[in-house]
Amino acid sequence: MTTKIAVFASGSGSNFQAIQQAIEDGKLDARIEIVVTDKPDAYVVKRAGNFNIAVFSFVAKQYASKADYEQEIIDTLKEHEVDWIILAGYMRLIGSTLLSAFSNRIVNIHPSLLPSFPGKDAIGQAMEHGVKVTGVTVHFVDEGMDTGPILSQAAVEVVDGDRSATEARIHAVEHELYTSTLQKLFKNEIKLVH
Ligand code: GRF
Repeated sequence: MTTKIAVFASGSGSNFQAIQQAIEDGKLDARIEIVVTDKPDAYVVKRAGNFNIAVFSFVAKQYASKADYEQEIIDTLKEHEVDWIILAGYMRLIGSTLLSAFSNRIVNIHPSLLPSFPGKDAIGQAMEHGVKVTGVTVHFVDEGMDTGPILSQAAVEVVDGDRSATEARIHAVEHELYTSTLQKLFKNEIKLVH
């Protein structure tokens, strides 16, 4: 059965596009029902429009609390009968309201080999630290910052002193790893240790 997903993004949306492309290429049995963004001007909104995919945008500061905007997101996702939330560059911590409504149904991609370099600018953190190998992690989302159970990882060699080349390598690996991991997850082919 085709899995109905929502993609949450705050920025460029290259992972959103890779997921949609994998769906169109028959590599991922899913359907992006809606894109959710906290940045109404983000490039991902334009990308979603190119594929005729619905967008729900919100501005967090227009709500009294995180629980309030997350409840509105939940109502929208329910209308679209969404099964899974796929975070792809969504720059907000998921709160308890969304976590309990989509328990074990929220996945994130992070540009490092977790538990190294969680949080913002993981690529910058890795380069600053001088590591030679970094990578990509796909994991379940819990209440922490990039702390949930790991679903898959891939290593990427740092290009010494060249952030943009390193970033390009990481993005290419992300696009491949995210779609293949989601396919296994939706087909129940991933076994977790924890
Ligand atoms: C990716 O590097 C992802 O790992 C991180 O945010 C970035 C989003 O990139 N969480 P894009 O918007 O999908 O191009």
